[in-house]
Amino acid sequence: MESSKKVGVIGAGMMGAEIALCFAAAGNEVKLLDCESGKALEAKQRLTKVLERSVAKGRFDHEKKDATLDRISVGSDMNALAEASVVVEAVFEDLTVKQEVWRLADSICSDGCLFASNTSSIPITLLAAGVEPHRRERFLGAHFFSPAWVMKLVEVIPGLETADEAAEEMMALCLYIGKSPIEVRDVPGFAVNRILHAMWIEVNRLVEEGVASPEAIDIACCQGLGHPVGPHALMDLTSNDLNLRVQQILFNAYGERFRPRPGLKQKVDAGHLGRKSGRGWFRY
Ligand SMILES: NC(=O)c1ccc[n+]([C@@H]2O[C@H](COP(=O)([O-])OP(=O)(O)OC[C@H]3O[C@@H](n4cnc5c(N)ncnc54)[C@H](O)[C@@H]3O)[C@@H](O)[C@H]2O)c1
Repeated sequence: MESSKKVGVIGAGMMGAEIALCFAAAGNEVKLLDCESGKALEAKQRLTKVLERSVAKGRFDHEKKDATLDRISVGSDMNALAEASVVVEAVFEDLTVKQEVWRLADSICSDGCLFASNTSSIPITLLAAGVEPHRRERFLGAHFFSPAWVMKLVEVIPGLETADEAAEEMMALCLYIGKSPIEVRDVPGFAVNRILHAMWIEVNRLVEEGVASPEAIDIACCQGLGHPVGPHALMDLTSNDLNLRVQQILFNAYGERFRPRPGLKQKVDAGHLGRKSGRGWFRY
């Protein structure tokens, strides 16, 4: 039974907290862990607000709210992962940090535990190489999208040594928690970031050429293509420094078609990073 699976989530930041919420809402007991215990506590408070908003909008059952939150226990002691059947890691996007976290989890978790990284850009095969060889067949990517409580998509990414059964298990688990998983090969950017950044690079080019303003392009995408949010608004949300970093990774992997545009570099140089700095393509 999927609901009897105990889930560990490492990293109680923006992604990890809401990933924990998705599992808890589906009936799983979740340990949400962070190296800073204060962050784990803050995450629980944030999640309370997220659920209250969902209840107010009629998107979540009031009766289930407290039980869902009760299923999430927070802390900083990784030994709490000993009973987990599944561990999802959502710590900083840094190879050394992630490898260290997985080495520790490897020494604590049971052999049958499924390991899933929420990395956006680090190859799954590279991360899997950092755990014990017998564990690699149960190591994969599970790339959730932000905000994870709302967005349905999960890219399930088997690494070179991942067993088919492990990928099938993750796909089934994602369906069980109400997500729409797709299986994607372990290539730089997986599938979605390649689609997204190809479009954003063209959007940057349109602005540089003076074909249309950022405002006009956002109206075009929302009103003409049915996107729920325009590309500039979304770039400002995800932040331009991160977007530039991702494009550099894609450029290194695929060449010219992903070369970041000078206009984006200039935004980053100017400190116009997006919502987080008060100014990006738009002012906030
Ligand atoms: N932000 C997004 O839109 C998004 C989307 C998809 C995937 N991701 C990926 O999800 C992961 C997390 O991103 P985020 O935006 O939630 O980051 P974040 O900075 O909000 O949170 C990361 C959390 O990890 C904790 N952490 C760091 N080192 C740790 C350690 N050694 N042990 C335990 N906890 C540790 C930090 O204290 C922090 O709370 C990254 O790999 C990122 O690439 C992010």
